[in-house]
Amino acid sequence: MSVSIIAAIGKNRELGKNNDLIWHFKEDMKFFRNTTIGNTVVMGRKTFESLPHALPDRRNIVITSDKNYNADGAEVVSSVEEAVEKTKGDNVFVIGGGKVYSEFLNLSDKLYLTEIDAECKDADVFFPEFDKAEYSAVKLSDFTVDSIHFSHVLYSK
Ligand SMILES: NC(=O)c1ccc[n+]([C@@H]2O[C@H](COP(=O)([O-])OP(=O)(O)OC[C@H]3O[C@@H](n4cnc5c(N)ncnc54)[C@H](OP(=O)(O)O)[C@@H]3O)[C@@H](O)[C@H]2O)c1
Repeated sequence: MSVSIIAAIGKNRELGKNNDLIWHFKEDMKFFRNTTIGNTVVMGRKTFESLPHALPDRRNIVITSDKNYNADGAEVVSSVEEAVEKTKGDNVFVIGGGKVYSEFLNLSDKLYLTEIDAECKDADVFFPEFDKAEYSAVKLSDFTVDSIHFSHVLYSK
């Protein structure tokens, strides 16, 4: 039914380093869980491997070029097209990482972004550039934790 992206990004669109997240805010984890629960999550093989296990109470789809890939608790697909085909009729949340966000940016009409007012000099994965003028933005919530401010913003096309 819909394809949305959900991501937490730094000031320079930083997403991750060493195949892990950069920031871990429990308020953001809660937002992620509440937004995606009961829906379908689509992710790249590297993001899947960064998780302790498939996300509970969600249909998990992992994209990889490895035809023999076995992902406990998840369905494996070998292309973006196959992911789209397999999830027709679902509320889909694309949960990363950088490569998969780039591939789905133009297929998604909503971006749920956690905009973190901080930088990470050694980030090695970034959210793709996107044109904010193509979206209307609504701020959903604001937090300051350990002197770091972050907001949940919903961008809709
Ligand atoms: N801040 C956030 O919100 C957030 C969210 C998620 C992840 N992250 C971070 O992002 C980083 C991982 O991102 P990443 O860009 O390195 O990797 P990724 O997007 O998670 O996964 C990339 C892998 O997915 C598979 N893939 C992607 N597109 C494909 C296609 N069209 N056809 C076949 N396979 C495809 C390939 O797997 P194979 O190599 O097996 O073929 C590719 O190597 C980590 O640091 C993670 O912590 C951050």
